[in-house]
Amino acid sequence: PALTQDELKTLVGQAALQYVVRGEIVGVGTGSTVNKFIDALATIKDQIKGAVSSSVASTERLQALGIPVFDCNEVTQLAVYIDGADEIDGKGYMVKGGGAALTREKIVAAQSTQFVCIADESKLVQTLGKFPLPVEVIPMASQRVMRQFQALGGSASIRQKDGKPLVTDNGQCIVDVTGLQIADPLAFEATVSQWPGVVTVGVFAVQRAHVCLLGTPAGVKTLTF
Ligand code: A5P
Repeated sequence: PALTQDELKTLVGQAALQYVVRGEIVGVGTGSTVNKFIDALATIKDQIKGAVSSSVASTERLQALGIPVFDCNEVTQLAVYIDGADEIDGKGYMVKGGGAALTREKIVAAQSTQFVCIADESKLVQTLGKFPLPVEVIPMASQRVMRQFQALGGSASIRQKDGKPLVTDNGQCIVDVTGLQIADPLAFEATVSQWPGVVTVGVFAVQRAHVCLLGTPAGVKTLTF
């Protein structure tokens, strides 16, 4: 029988262990695929110093499994950051933030030498933009930022949770934008990052992936960029 999406996530989560530098601190992302990686990481926890985490959710999971979590400010450069993506293209550019953790993810990625993306093959796209683009925004600027996206041809809305605007780990809101075709991720990221009130845009172009472990029915495919 064909592997389920959940089984593909488990496969790539386990495959990521080979990129973890023993004796060091590893950068850990957020999401259902990363949760599989965290579970696998627990099996080698005696061989690593600990983790820097990109969300409250991942921190809680790491600590529950006995993996020490360090603050980002306690470490300088990390060798490897392992995280999922909502979309990844053929150059390692990604859309992230489906789990609302994009700001901390971009910070930890920026502090890591190598970004290893773990994903099932449904995430691989030709052009970024089909998945609603998450943008973390200071609430005061949300309407203005949404109008700016509308001027680019997008359609924007404030992400809700339990009938209220979702509040991120950083106390801000998330604007999700549909209808964009992000042909030049580097230029797009540079532009939107400069809009007043934008904390983080979910396009990861400067902080692109260097390796993608892609779960396919034939097994784990390694893409390098
Ligand atoms: C979290 O904010 C996102 O960037 C995740 O990395 C992304 O949503 C992938 O999550 P899944 O592994 O659950 O698809």
